[in-house]
Amino acid sequence: MERRGEEGRAGSGGEREGMHELVIEGRFVHPEGIFEAEVGVDEGRISAVRKQGLSGEKRVSAGAGCLIFPGFVDLHAHLREDESHEWSYKEDFLSGAKAAIHGGVTTVVDMPNTPRPATSAERVRAKKRLAEKARGYAEILFCGGVTEENLHSGEIERMREEVVAFKIYLCETTGGLYLPANALPKALLATRGKPVVFHCEDQELVLRGRRSEAATEVSAVRSVLSAALSLNANVRAEMKINIAHVSSEETVLALRTFRNHTDAPRVFCEVTPHHLFFSEKDAARNRMLRVNPPLRSERSRRMLLNALKRGEIDFIASDHAPHTAAEKAEGAAGVPNLDTFGSFVGWLILRGVSPCRIASACAAMPASFLSLKDRGRIEEGKRADFTILDLKRLRKISSEHLYTKCGWSPFEGCEFPSVRHTIVKGEVKSEYDDVLD
Ligand code: DOR
Ligand code: ZN
Repeated sequence: MERRGEEGRAGSGGEREGMHELVIEGRFVHPEGIFEAEVGVDEGRISAVRKQGLSGEKRVSAGAGCLIFPGFVDLHAHLREDESHEWSYKEDFLSGAKAAIHGGVTTVVDMPNTPRPATSAERVRAKKRLAEKARGYAEILFCGGVTEENLHSGEIERMREEVVAFKIYLCETTGGLYLPANALPKALLATRGKPVVFHCEDQELVLRGRRSEAATEVSAVRSVLSAALSLNANVRAEMKINIAHVSSEETVLALRTFRNHTDAPRVFCEVTPHHLFFSEKDAARNRMLRVNPPLRSERSRRMLLNALKRGEIDFIASDHAPHTAAEKAEGAAGVPNLDTFGSFVGWLILRGVSPCRIASACAAMPASFLSLKDRGRIEEGKRADFTILDLKRLRKISSEHLYTKCGWSPFEGCEFPSVRHTIVKGEVKSEYDDVLD
């Protein structure tokens, strides 16, 4: 039962036995189990994990109804800011990082599709400079876009140091990034060793007006998988592929088959809150729910939820895609999801997704996919990032309590559990709906 506590005891030296800067106590959730413990924090890191008996200058007690997770790592968000500032009215790094904290997200990966897309090392560095102002809130990491141009020029190689992952759009998206499927083998070669995230919708089928069909997604997934299999075993061994925002039953089935293939590289997949919660019927009634890939049948939605419960889906990612209400009325695709992320996860737990699965899909697995060895688990030496959910305090999601600049939520009016605290490097950064300065 107390395995983690025992490990903590074994791993810590006598010099650490004094007063900790912070002690957190309560039920800690690991992918392997839930353990009642006390965790000591010093200089932004976890310095002790014990059953009890730690003293601290400050104490956070997460009582009945609360669960303490490793800080959530969101693999997929559109924070909209770049040097042009053209889209900063929808979101910027500071408002996005605060929305993340509000939603229990302590690490967030920004997507490349902005007016000056992150398709060169210098563009990514420019985004990093702009993101400095969000320091102390959620940590922002960057994903680089793959295009025929940067593949051809060799810029991809220079981007490696600046990004945690590459993104490939197999159809045009907001902002226009797109890589034709016939460039996939070259792209997989050029990016190997780095995680690559795929937006899977088949451009040709989309152009023929078939976006609403699941076949559009399955066809693009198949292109990725067959390009991967066409490369030699050494290359495949180095690949790390993530299929973003899986939306349909058919895709889950295709991935299941592929994973049984003996020569297959490891293919991961992510699911979004909106594809787990809404179906095409909701989208037909409410144009604010327009997203790419589109919402699917109720059967697909249930299948995704069950696949998540079974561990067939590796990550929950927000795909936070803020657009103003006016832009939504004109057909912009995407919904904001950061402010409500932790509350939505609380809803998943109430619907039978095990907290351990959440610790895996929202922290341990995304951190490991990105090779962020300093986070994702509650262990001595890791960053003291935590997300504390209060499953007993239900609240109605309201646009009055959002940090995203776009000012609305697809979950308006839904009654979800609360994020009690988000803790970043040992600092308590939120208390319920208040993000603390
Ligand atoms: O719904 C979407 N919104 N899908 C995408 O692929 C892009 C995103 C956005 O950036 O708005
Ligand atoms: Zn996206």
